Amino acid sequence: MFENLPEHPHIVVLTGAGVSAESGLKTFRDSGGLWEEHSIMDVATPEAWKNNPELVLRFYNDRRKQLDEVSPNPAHYALAELETKFNVHIITQNVDDLHQRAGSHNVIHLHGELRKARSERFPSLVYTLDHPEIKMGDTCQRGFQLRPHIVWFGEDVPMIQTASAIVKTADILLIVGTSLNVYPAAGLINHAPYGCRKYLIDPHETHEGSMYNLTHLKEKAGKAVPALLDKFLREFNR
Ligand code: OAD
Repeated sequence: MFENLPEHPHIVVLTGAGVSAESGLKTFRDSGGLWEEHSIMDVATPEAWKNNPELVLRFYNDRRKQLDEVSPNPAHYALAELETKFNVHIITQNVDDLHQRAGSHNVIHLHGELRKARSERFPSLVYTLDHPEIKMGDTCQRGFQLRPHIVWFGEDVPMIQTASAIVKTADILLIVGTSLNVYPAAGLINHAPYGCRKYLIDPHETHEGSMYNLTHLKEKAGKAVPALLDKFLREFNR
């Protein structure tokens, strides 16, 4: 079933909150997930920022502080090792930095990055934070308030075209720990070539629909991703 893969396959990985769950970061929609505790409308929309910026800042400041308390897990490390042996691109919906801290370099953040802030008036003014908090009154170099560098619901996803172009050239697509509820990110899996070999790693059912050439590994990422790495190393003699 899986013949005709090139000797040097392009492996594209789409990750979601589930890949960081075993590091101790909550997912969004599992039982006890972030969207059970907080309303999306209150903390993750442009309207929330307009109505109650203090609450929005507190929500993301708390998330940012948590990053210092967690570490990459075996799934992040296996993906970083994969990149040392193959042509790998990671497209993540996550705003944490665990892929980079595990050693991955080719990472696209579709929904922004917790460790960055940007000007609310000039979106191209983006800053890497060296402290955990953005406060009211923290401004960009042109004097406008800084906001989290996060793509909120109702906002454009600037990296989606780049991500789509990458997925279109995938020989192997790994979909790890995402419920595939949020578009346009979830739609990316349909941009993969028809014959592309696809793995879905998620202990639960997701919204992938029926896809040709898809294997659902119903396991946690921390176990399934290292096992897939081993499989690829053997299969491609790396
Ligand atoms: P979700 O919370 O919607 O889905 C997490 C998925 O991870 C679920 O399908 C779980 O079954 C799975 N999961 C849980 N533990 C796992 C484990 N150990 N190994 C593998 N899978 C596991 O999170 P996302 O799909 O990432 O956007 O959510 C997408 C977007 O919705 C987020 O980027 C965020 C959110 O609202 C914004 O805030 C813009």
